[in-house]
Amino acid sequence: MDSIVVRGNGPLSGQIPIAGAKNACLALMPATLLSDEPLTLTNAPRLSDIRTMTELLASLGAEVTALQDGKVLAASCHGEINPVADYEIVRKMRASNLVLGPLLARMGHAVVSLPGGCAIGARPMDIHVDALSALGAEIELKDGYLHAKARGGLRGATHEMRFASVGATENFLMAASLAKGTSVLKNAAREPEIVDLARCLRAMGAQIEGDGTSEIVIEGVERLHGATHPVVADRIELGTYMLAPAICGGEVECLGGRIDLIEAFCEKLDAAGVSVEQTHTGVKVSRKNGRIRAVDVVTEPFPGFPTDLQAQMMALLTTAEGTSVLEEKIFENRFMHAPELTRMGANIEVHGGHATVHGVETLKGAPVMATDLRASVSLILAGLAAEGETVVSRVYHLDRGYERVEEKLKAVGAHIERVKAS
Ligand code: UD1
Repeated sequence: MDSIVVRGNGPLSGQIPIAGAKNACLALMPATLLSDEPLTLTNAPRLSDIRTMTELLASLGAEVTALQDGKVLAASCHGEINPVADYEIVRKMRASNLVLGPLLARMGHAVVSLPGGCAIGARPMDIHVDALSALGAEIELKDGYLHAKARGGLRGATHEMRFASVGATENFLMAASLAKGTSVLKNAAREPEIVDLARCLRAMGAQIEGDGTSEIVIEGVERLHGATHPVVADRIELGTYMLAPAICGGEVECLGGRIDLIEAFCEKLDAAGVSVEQTHTGVKVSRKNGRIRAVDVVTEPFPGFPTDLQAQMMALLTTAEGTSVLEEKIFENRFMHAPELTRMGANIEVHGGHATVHGVETLKGAPVMATDLRASVSLILAGLAAEGETVVSRVYHLDRGYERVEEKLKAVGAHIERVKAS
């Protein structure tokens, strides 16, 4: 298995291109199941999670062809569809559950294995099941699979989710686009990836209003057609790379980045002593004079501070002046990076959903292990701040969500290498 070796770094300088959003692309790709015409996604990220979704869609009868070195995905689903999403593929990635809504809408039935994904909590499917049941689906769990049926097709309905789940909102949007009549989703998630999916569905002929707010109205249509859609920039990749100059000093511009996608994160960076500026071409980040200051962080659904940047923010705060408290409100068990950061000399106490980080002067390089996607990149960031060498193993998590991380960081002067497994 590959590992990544990082050495403590001086100031960084240069530009890092931000890819299309993994989480947006993973929701956009299943939309191909909704139409028999081609869907083309441009600005796609080149990641193993995207290859897993490609494999899953192929097993269902869709074709996804990677063009221009994977930056363009040409998808189509005009032939026979197999409505069974098998455990062997679904277990690799939780976002596989995003085929449930489209399969139900197009076929009237679907059998989808319960998903796996990052080990960051229980991650049940009840909100998806309730939302699709509101549209008239009958769903039961048998042998680890959700068996869903919509006798006579899906019917528009008003439904309020008990929590603003991102995935359940996406499943509902796709399913309701082809349901008979009007649907209203209350307490909908407002993440930019949902707005991006709604844009794509509209380009395919769907009638959707209110995306980006907590009430989305969908007027079902008979059929959807083909479209070409550019994937929105990855706000989590953006936030991650913004932390590199925050940790090392210097100035880095994240090309294609948009502050409006991560305002809550940018406010915390500002409070910690990092300056952030929107330019015509991206987001420019540099560290203000002096040491990083402690800040408290609470993760929340959008527009709050994203849970997917909590681990990386913790890496920054390990060497801040003062004590920071990070509260995780989205996923239980999402502090698995804390013991690894502690191995590098960080002073962190975890109690339930809170982590208290007492800033230390410096971290020391150490062998550490990645436990999930965002945890693994937080260890790389911490390595940039540490004296000596940090070896991050189990980097397959990293390759699920970061395109050529070592090349992008190296290009701005970071001391980082991938060591291939022999
Ligand atoms: C998406 C993102 C993930 C991000 C998360 C929260 C993708 C592919 N992944 O995941 O990177 O961390 O949003 O911003 O877009 N829950 C239930 N029942 C359900 C569904 C969810 O209890 O049926 C709980 C989850 O266990 C979790 C919380 O709701 O505690 C948030 O989950 P959700 O918003 O659904 O996240 P995902 O769509 O899985």
